[in-house]
Parts: sequence; structure tokens; C-alpha cells
Amino acid sequence: MTRIERIGPATLILGDVLTALDGLPPVDAVITDPPYSSGGTHTAQRADDPRRRGVFAHPAPRRRVHVTQKPEGLMADLVEICAPGGVVLDPFMGSGTTGAAALRSGRGFVGVEKSAEFFEIACARLRETLTDMDWERAVAVADARARRHDRDAG
Ligand SMILES: C[S@@+](CC[C@H](N)C(=O)[O-])C[C@H]1O[C@@H](n2cnc3c(N)ncnc32)[C@H](O)[C@@H]1O
Repeated sequence: MTRIERIGPATLILGDVLTALDGLPPVDAVITDPPYSSGGTHTAQRADDPRRRGVFAHPAPRRRVHVTQKPEGLMADLVEICAPGGVVLDPFMGSGTTGAAALRSGRGFVGVEKSAEFFEIACARLRETLTDMDWERAVAVADARARRHDRDAG
């Protein structure tokens, strides 16, 4: 682990997740987009296929800083599996898309990235996300959602 940045309710770690894993704070869900390669030959429109129910369809980001950057709307759908107000871990955070979605929905975030360049980009992105949004309002929305969730569950 070479560096830790705390940005509001987010903890960003620069380093290899294989060595950072033991020291990570407790989290409620792991939502990630791990390293992969299609060999650059595969483009898919699988979401258009009606047989593929449960596929989330979001347009690719118009401006990308990471070659495999995901749409923030997609990560916003996925962070919903985490309990309202919970903490999401993305051990391969890249440019921080999962973190931005987690913060906007009033969740906490722990991100790990081994590339110093993308770590800096993710830090800047999450700082910007927090200044962009009315954080107090986001937390109030998340609290209300958590209360509703507890009431419905119990
Ligand atoms: C598929 S990309 C994630 C892209 C991200 N979802 C986004 O929207 O920008 C995977 C990332 O994992 C990082 N990575 C690969 N191996 C890693 C490791 N062992 N520890 C930490 N990060 C790693 C890569 O540097 C890369 O940025």
C-alpha cells in the first residue's frame, strides 16, 4: 500500500489490491469491473437481445479518461445492491466510476487502484463529485431510504 486519500466518505488506496486487501476497512458490498481483455476484437450490443433479461443498458460515456471506463448510470444501478447508506468496495477502481455512483447515492466508498495515473484521476473525480452535489441532501435521501428499507424489512 503506497498512499491513502480520504475524500468525504471515500477512502482511496493507491497500490496492488493483492497486498492491500488485508488492511481494508469493513465494507458492505464489492462492486467492480476487474481487469480483462477482449483482445480489442469484441464489441457487444447484448442488451438489445430480448433473451438477455436483467441486462443493464447504458450508453458508453461520451468522454472517457480510461479506456474501459464504464457509464456512471450503469454503476448507479449496480450500487443499489448495497444496503442504503452502506459502503461499496471497488478493488479495481480505474477512473473511479463506481465511487462516483456510490457517493451520489449517499453510500460510502473504498477504492483500490494500482496505477498512479488513474489513482490521481479517481481522487480528482471524487473530489469533484462531492463539490458538484449537495452532500447533505444526498445523505438525507440515503437516510430516508435506509429508514424505509428497515421499516419494509421489519
Ligand atoms: C477495467 S479497469 C476499471 C475501469 C473503471 N470501471 C472505470 O470506469 O474507470 C480495471 C482497473 O484495475 C486496475 N488494476 C489491475 N490490477 C490491479 C491490482 N492488482 N490492484 C489494483 N488495481 C488493479 C487497472 O489499473 C485498471 O485501472
